[in-house]
Amino acid sequence: MKRTIKSFVNRAGRITIAQRKAIEEFLLDFSFRSKLSFQGENSFLKHRPLYLEIGFGNGLNLVRQAEYYPGRNFIGCEIYESGIGSTLINLKNRGINNVRIAVGDALETIEYLSLKSLDGVFILFPDPWPKKRHNKRRLVNKDFLRKIGPKMKDHAKIFMTTDDRSYAQEIIEVLAEDAFFENIAGERSFAPRPSWRESTKFEERAHRLGNSIFEIIACLKN
Ligand SMILES: C[S@@+](CC[C@H](N)C(=O)[O-])C[C@H]1O[C@@H](n2cnc3c(N)ncnc32)[C@H](O)[C@@H]1O
Repeated sequence: MKRTIKSFVNRAGRITIAQRKAIEEFLLDFSFRSKLSFQGENSFLKHRPLYLEIGFGNGLNLVRQAEYYPGRNFIGCEIYESGIGSTLINLKNRGINNVRIAVGDALETIEYLSLKSLDGVFILFPDPWPKKRHNKRRLVNKDFLRKIGPKMKDHAKIFMTTDDRSYAQEIIEVLAEDAFFENIAGERSFAPRPSWRESTKFEERAHRLGNSIFEIIACLKN
């Protein structure tokens, strides 16, 4: 049987009582009922411009974007339970209803999306997998671009941020070689930080450690 390499590890991790309770009580309200809900003319996915955040962590960017842009819909993919719990608490407390959470591997969620359905994609501080032998677990690679590309509208962009220099270099290299995507900052270049992006937990960590932060924005070639 072919073993698929995952970009995450399922750690049991610590979860608070409040986070657990939020998952038990609210996750269903913020979930797709079935794989079929990814289709359907009037679904959440076709109603409004649609944005996807992969690996939203504790959801700071996802919640703020959804609050700031009530006219857009957002899908957040995550497997980290305590982050999902915190995000649900925030969504509920702020009365936000334009977010759906897809628990599990984002690559599977992407498969269910309709062609040309996404207006934008956020991947903020993806797990860096810094050891050479683990590099193959990195989410953003040629294969990933091949999967996400057809699901993006022509004007859509992927916003990627990392404080791992080797991952950043790998991404700009992959983009330079890619047949369908281009780097909007120019080949093998980094973009300025988008001012509208919420600072995330891992961005704060990068600042604390004094790490450089690399912004990469990709769009489809015309
Ligand atoms: C380093 S954390 C960054 C979290 C957040 N974006 C931030 O900036 O604080 C990366 C997150 O991506 C999630 N992740 C990694 N691969 C994923 C995948 N294939 N599908 C869904 N989530 C994934 C991990 O569970 C983890 O929470």
